[in-house]
Amino acid sequence: MQAKKVIIIGASSGIGKALAEVYGANLCELGLAARRQHLLEQLHKTLNVPCTVKVMDVADTSSAVAGLTDLITSMDGVDVIIISAGIGLFNRHLDVAIEQQTIALNVSGFTALADTAFNYFAKRGSGCLAAISSVAAIRGSGRSPAYNASKAFMSNYLEGLRFKARLMKLPITITDIRPGFVATDLLKGQKLPWVASPQKAAKQIYAAIAARKKRAYVTRRWSLIAQLLKIAPDSICTKFG
Ligand SMILES: NC(=O)c1ccc[n+]([C@@H]2O[C@H](COP(=O)([O-])OP(=O)(O)OC[C@H]3O[C@@H](n4cnc5c(N)ncnc54)[C@H](OP(=O)(O)O)[C@@H]3O)[C@@H](O)[C@H]2O)c1
Repeated sequence: MQAKKVIIIGASSGIGKALAEVYGANLCELGLAARRQHLLEQLHKTLNVPCTVKVMDVADTSSAVAGLTDLITSMDGVDVIIISAGIGLFNRHLDVAIEQQTIALNVSGFTALADTAFNYFAKRGSGCLAAISSVAAIRGSGRSPAYNASKAFMSNYLEGLRFKARLMKLPITITDIRPGFVATDLLKGQKLPWVASPQKAAKQIYAAIAARKKRAYVTRRWSLIAQLLKIAPDSICTKFG
C-alpha cells in the first residue's frame, strides 16, 4: 500500500526519527509528535515534504488523545499512524516510581493513542496502525520488569485490536513491530550483539507496514531469537532478561 499521509508519534529521535526520514523520502505528508519541539522542528527542516509538528506528552493521556486528534484534523485525515514513543528504564532496586513511569507511557499512553487511532480509522473505514513493541515482549525481565511487561501488553493489545477490526469487518491493518536491538538513546550506549542502525530498522519497518504485515521482527534475524526465547528455560532468561 502506498501511504500518503503518515503520523509518527515519538519522531524526535531514534527509530521514529529514522521512520520520518524514510516516509519523507517516499514523499509522504507527515505529522511529527513528541515532547521535544526543537528536535521536531529541526527534523521538519531537513524533510522536503509538508509536515505538521505537534508537541504532546504521551504519558499524560489527555494530552496524547487531544494531540493526536488535533494532528489528524489539521492534516485533514491520515492513512497511517505509527506509535514509536516509549521508554526503557533499568530498575534494579524495583523503585515503584520507575515502574509507574514506564506504565504511564508504554501502557496507559500507548492505549490512549491506539484507541484514538483505531476509532478514527473505524469512522473513516480504513487505515493502518503500527506500534513499536519489542522482542522483550516475549519473556519477563529481572532488570526491567515493567519494560518487558509493558511490551507484552502492547503486543497483546495490538492483537486484540486486529481481532476487533476483523469482527467489525473493517480493513484496518494493525502491525506489531518487534525490534531486537537498535542503536538509539534507549540503549544508553550498552555494548550488545546484533545492534541495527535506526536507518536499517526504519527501512524494514516501512516495508512491513507497506506489506500490511501483522507483526515483524526488526531486523529479520530477531525472529529466530524470538522463537528461541519462547522455549528457553527460565535459568537462561533470568541471566540475560
Ligand atoms: N532501541 C532499541 O533497541 C529498541 C528495541 C525494542 C523496542 N524499542 C522501542 O522503540 C521505540 C522507540 O524507541 P527508540 O529506540 O527510538 O528510543 P529513543 O530514541 O529514546 O526514542 C523515544 C521516542 O519516544 C519519545 N517519547 C518518550 N517519552 C515520551 C512522552 N512522554 N511523550 C511523547 N513522546 C515521548 C521521545 O521523544 P521526546 O523525548 O522528545 O518526547 C522519542 O522521540 C520505544 O517504544 C522502544 O521501547 C527500541
